[in-house]
Amino acid sequence: MLKFVHQAIRDIRTTGSVFPSSRRLARAMTSSLREHRGEKRILEVGPGTGAFTEEILDAMRGHDALDIVEVNPVFCEHLEHRLLKPFRARHSSMSIRLHISSIEQATLDGGYDFVICGLPFNNFPLVLTQSIFARMLTLLRDGGELIYFEYPGMRTMKRPFVGADGREHIRNFKAFARMTAKTHRVTRELVVANFPPAHAVRLTKRQRSP
Ligand SMILES: C[S@@+](CC[C@H](N)C(=O)[O-])C[C@H]1O[C@@H](n2cnc3c(N)ncnc32)[C@H](O)[C@@H]1O
Repeated sequence: MLKFVHQAIRDIRTTGSVFPSSRRLARAMTSSLREHRGEKRILEVGPGTGAFTEEILDAMRGHDALDIVEVNPVFCEHLEHRLLKPFRARHSSMSIRLHISSIEQATLDGGYDFVICGLPFNNFPLVLTQSIFARMLTLLRDGGELIYFEYPGMRTMKRPFVGADGREHIRNFKAFARMTAKTHRVTRELVVANFPPAHAVRLTKRQRSP
């Protein structure tokens, strides 16, 4: 917790929140992994201190594989020592790889069944959000799930405090979210036991028509 708060104070733009996500939000973000039958390939983007990673590791079985992409080396070191190294020692059949990189630049194979994303889209310019979404969808197999979270009402609350450019940004972001929901199947689960309360958003990638 202290490590997270310290990094948030140093760089609020990429960390995006002052507190890590709660266990309840982590459970909602990873419920599909526990329901999945058969081997799974998972990508986690922006794990921070590992709130979602712990639940992902807990849901892994057999020869499942996990790639993790985190841009902040301090979080990477923490994750490696606290969670990943001990997990690898106990589960040698599973592949667990940590990439110290931004998702825009990481070298990844693709074809994932699940992408679990903890990125702070509220803080990102729209073009960056759009290009990161496009990258994550490319890395996901058809029928796979991209799961991310949003703080409901955050943009609406910001509206009175931002200028004309900010309001245009909010409008464009909402249009982008509507377009994404038309192209793919999107469902939301509200998690009140998080600070602030959050939606776990589950997007199922639509198969391309032949
Ligand atoms: C809001 S924190 C979420 C941490 C954790 N998933 C949670 O919910 O508590 C966002 C994380 O994304 C990382 N991050 C931000 N931009 C990134 C990018 N472009 N590529 C990979 N990681 C990024 C930050 O360093 C930070 O660890």
